[in-house]
Amino acid sequence: MAESSYESLFSPGRIGKMELKNRIVYPPMGTNICTFEGEVTDRLKAYHAARAGGGVGLDIVENAAVDTHMEGPNKGSVARLPFGLNIDEDRHIPGLRDLAQLIKDNGAKAALQIYHGTLWAMPPQRPVFGAELPRELPEDAIVEFTVRFAEAAKRAKDAGFDAIEIHGSNINLQTQFRSSVWNKRNDKYGGSVENRARFMCDTIKAVKNVAGKEFPVWCRISLFEVFYTAGGKVAEYGVTLEDTLAQVPMFVEAGVDAIHLSAFGFYDYTIVYYPISPVPPMSAGTYLDMAEKVKKAVKVPVIAAGRISPEAGDLAIKEGKLDFVSMGRALQADPELPKKVAAGNRKDVVPCIACNHCFETVSWADGVICVANPAIGREQEFEIKKADKPKKVIVAGGGPAGMSAAQIAARRGHDVLLYEKEKKLGGQLDAAAVPPHRGILRSVTTYLANQLVKHKVKVELGKELTLEEVEKLGPDVCILATGASPIIPEDIPGLSEHPHVVTAVDVLLGRAEVGDRVVIIGGERVGCETAELLADRGKQVTVTKRGPHMADKMNPDMRLNLVDRLKEKGVRLLTNVLYLGVTETGVGIHVRGGVTSMAEIAADGMKNIPADTIVIAAGAKPNNELAQALEGKVPELYSIGDCVEPRRILEAIHEGWKVALEI
Ligand SMILES: Cc1cc2nc3c(=O)[nH]c(=O)nc-3n(C[C@H](O)[C@H](O)[C@H](O)COP(=O)(O)OP(=O)(O)OC[C@H]3O[C@@H](n4cnc5c(N)ncnc54)[C@H](O)[C@@H]3O)c2cc1C
Ligand SMILES: Cc1cc2nc3c(=O)[nH]c(=O)nc-3n(C[C@H](O)[C@H](O)[C@H](O)COP(=O)(O)O)c2cc1C
Repeated sequence: MAESSYESLFSPGRIGKMELKNRIVYPPMGTNICTFEGEVTDRLKAYHAARAGGGVGLDIVENAAVDTHMEGPNKGSVARLPFGLNIDEDRHIPGLRDLAQLIKDNGAKAALQIYHGTLWAMPPQRPVFGAELPRELPEDAIVEFTVRFAEAAKRAKDAGFDAIEIHGSNINLQTQFRSSVWNKRNDKYGGSVENRARFMCDTIKAVKNVAGKEFPVWCRISLFEVFYTAGGKVAEYGVTLEDTLAQVPMFVEAGVDAIHLSAFGFYDYTIVYYPISPVPPMSAGTYLDMAEKVKKAVKVPVIAAGRISPEAGDLAIKEGKLDFVSMGRALQADPELPKKVAAGNRKDVVPCIACNHCFETVSWADGVICVANPAIGREQEFEIKKADKPKKVIVAGGGPAGMSAAQIAARRGHDVLLYEKEKKLGGQLDAAAVPPHRGILRSVTTYLANQLVKHKVKVELGKELTLEEVEKLGPDVCILATGASPIIPEDIPGLSEHPHVVTAVDVLLGRAEVGDRVVIIGGERVGCETAELLADRGKQVTVTKRGPHMADKMNPDMRLNLVDRLKEKGVRLLTNVLYLGVTETGVGIHVRGGVTSMAEIAADGMKNIPADTIVIAAGAKPNNELAQALEGKVPELYSIGDCVEPRRILEAIHEGWKVALEI
């Protein structure tokens, strides 16, 4: 973490006439926790109370739909979360009024993002949403839509919001007009850069007209819209940075008081989220240099997003690259980030691991989920309250599950002792953080280990918790978070014949030598990430998997990136593999289909892949022996995380919280 005074980040700022106490913005983040009718719920209120109360200067409430009553051929193509927010009728004003007031009561300024999610002029290649191909929007309908935005703006102002953001980034009706891929019109709304900005300019003017000259209004736009081929190469741009630099002065001329930047992209004409919400290896603050170019093109304040840390944000403001810093996923993970940083408690900020699970889950029925923060969208349910009766709690295991449970239990006033049989904390995260671009996982261990110190959890390292030890200590509660260990598959004939069989975890932890020719058995995340590490070390690597797709349990954004990198680095990926048998020299397999070419599959139909080392990445089995031994021996016994069933960091952290809130 770079040294920073955060002076610029916490300096007051201004958008139009609106004064902001600092430069931290909570950007619009869809939650999917409204009612089906798009009304504000108590959950949404608690969510924003937490973020506004956490110290942001400006809280921009997620995309509220200005029109949800599409009929006719485009009906199926409305891109709106099922439990997203609406502002298409006056009946939404009272709920929105409560929300705006709550944000202001919690010390932030409140803005509302308004948008039209319908997709009209599809590119001829592929429909992205909905069953039917939308038609070209008639000119009078375009004018009609500017009226919808204006009506929504009036409602937002009536509801007491301090400002309005017009959503023209990512994917929606406004974006399509800006994009040369989507917009194939030959009239005044299509073709030239100026024509493609016209719908947004007209909307800005219509909104400003009803909101009043003094009322802050701005637009959110994508710096670029990129289309990747399957394989991850850039095929074309719908919006280029040059388009954006040419259009932003037009938006200012039309009346905006600021410009808020994002980015968007498609992979094989399907939406992907990593251009909007960058994941590693995209660097933190990846759009700052582009934001600087926009700032040079306009005189109004510029807001930008994209994994901007408090340190990078502070520096960027100081260097004049932008004016306000949007922190989306970081504030999902920890709404208190601004307060903690301002108070000098940077180490207490819950780290976002940029895994984009939030994007994956935001369309799920129960709303957005954050790996790092179980309380997101469930702020009331997960409130950490002091326990009625402090208890003596023993935790076995210093992985993410055990550390989460221990720190929350300690925060509730329990007396907590944590045993970790290894000499350091982290559990499987230690190995998980080793492959390329996964170092970010160390932040989870670092954060949790700091919290154990802060909340006075007694930690015994290098000490295994046993039945005898538990009987000696006599705890009220025993929480078992003993994790999982790699499986060596028993159904692969002859595995023991090969002289050098090691586990992926041992490879990652540097406990196993690896030869030049490697066959990895198992093509989920662990196998694929280990393959990348070994390929980077110059090994000739083949990953084999019984199932049809490599690493298909991972987040789709992360998976696409990983699989493309493996191919780029010459790693052979063989799916639909039948293991015939291992010999002294390699692995005999039969391949049915898979991701390699048909010619290669034909040649490989049945063969022996030479291997100096066989790396096993075939999953894990729960370490549940202690649970069995302790059954009926302690007043309260709980098992959490991978020792119940090997899963993910998410379950480990969430179950740790839940159990600690229950005891
Ligand atoms: C290489 C690799 C990459 C991964 N990548 C990801 C990823 O990107 N995303 C994701 O979500 N998940 C990932 N996972 C899975 C994730 O790491 C686990 O789901 C998570 O660590 C489980 O946490 P846990 O605390 O339940 O168990 P563990 O992390 O296994 O921790 C258990 C701890 O308990 C200790 N212990 C065991 N018995 C005792 C005892 N009797 N007394 C004291 N201590 C004991 C162990 O030494 C260990 O430190 C990965 C796993 C691996 C191996
Ligand atoms: C779950 C989720 C929902 C989002 N919803 C919106 C939205 O409603 N409107 C919008 O303009 N951007 C939306 N975004 C984009 C964010 O505002 C932000 O630009 C992006 O996450 C990058 O910033 P970050 O790296 O700080 O998270 C969303 C992002 C996520 C992860």
